[in-house]
Amino acid sequence: MINFKELAKKYDTPLYVYDFDKIEKDFLELKNAFKARKSLIAYAVKANSNLSVLKKLSELGSGADCVSIGEIKRALLAGIPKYKIVFSGVGKRDEEIEEALKLDILFINLESEAEMQRVEEIAMGLGKKARISIRVNPNIDPKTHPYISTGLHENKFGVDIDTAKKMYLKANNSSFLEPVGIHFHIGSQLTKLEPIKEASQIVADLTRSLIKIGIDIKFFDVGGGLGIEYKDETTIKPYDYAQAIFSTLKGLDLTVICEPGRFIVGNAGYFLTKVLYEKVNGDKRFIIVDGGMNDLLRPSLYKAFHKVEVLDRTGDVSKADVVGPVCESGDFLAKDAELPKTEHNDIILVHSAGAYGFVMSSNYNTRARAAEVAVEKSKDRIIRDRESFEDLISKERKYI
Ligand SMILES: Cc1ncc(COP(=O)(O)O)c(C=O)c1O
Repeated sequence: MINFKELAKKYDTPLYVYDFDKIEKDFLELKNAFKARKSLIAYAVKANSNLSVLKKLSELGSGADCVSIGEIKRALLAGIPKYKIVFSGVGKRDEEIEEALKLDILFINLESEAEMQRVEEIAMGLGKKARISIRVNPNIDPKTHPYISTGLHENKFGVDIDTAKKMYLKANNSSFLEPVGIHFHIGSQLTKLEPIKEASQIVADLTRSLIKIGIDIKFFDVGGGLGIEYKDETTIKPYDYAQAIFSTLKGLDLTVICEPGRFIVGNAGYFLTKVLYEKVNGDKRFIIVDGGMNDLLRPSLYKAFHKVEVLDRTGDVSKADVVGPVCESGDFLAKDAELPKTEHNDIILVHSAGAYGFVMSSNYNTRARAAEVAVEKSKDRIIRDRESFEDLISKERKYI
């Protein structure tokens, strides 16, 4: 059991705390689920890119799914080998493509014909053959929140099947492109198996037809998206997830790549914030805390639910909104949460904050970003210092 109250006292708030033992457990569960085939778990760095988190995953054998050259550099710095790194994302700058090619990562995931042309030209300039994969948009509704749905034609991601075929043929005839993989990712926080299986089937059929015409696809990248329990969702078991994908791959000898982010770190992370005051406006009860949307954006951005509790307080509960100090009505961590009466300096624990938490934080309202702490085998250590006011202004020119 993590003593959150002690950690809040020791490191102050707002604070992120990550349970590294849970990260290990969840990573290994997923890795084992895929072990019946050649496979690679390429952790989606965007979910939580702290170097210590990446180092932990690197030690467990993880690869990395990156969406910027910055994420690639983080992954390499944390010890993830280049041959386990893939580079995705709809908008890559020329410099990022060039650097990724020079770094010789496993492959670049392409999301448009125009991007393929840029990669070909840059590879030609370097005298290299770029290993590529194409992100196919299978037009499947993942039945998740529209902001985190990515596999429909109305979303900006990937290319449709016909465009993908055209691109593979073109790439196969290029001296500077080597199509080695195929990729899809239909959305995040997926809690239903059927859309994943359906998408996998469509992309597996496409892979068969590509292999038949001599395109040597080696990697079948199923993206990420495995959902976690925030409230009372029924989630997909990693074993069932892997089996559903395997069932679409009959007769194909491919390495399966899976890019989970949220599943690995989401429920291993907590956000701690201190109560400043309570107030009542009309019928509405507010608990005002020292952490806000600049620290944890998900509730404001997606109306995402995070379980909240007041540490060491019991007694009668009533509905309250837990709100931050930022000057926005949208600045809240919880709405209508049933909570006991709080007092100044009580600690509120926000659950499931390990994924898309700290990484989305900002300095809005000139607020310093929170510190991050790891707890591993009952020992805690700081893995990112709290920002100071000097950090916040360090890049600004000082006109006096
Ligand atoms: C291509 C790709 N892979 C993996 C992920 C990770 O998703 P999740 O954290 O839901 O597993 C994302 C998330 O947006 C993504 O776009």
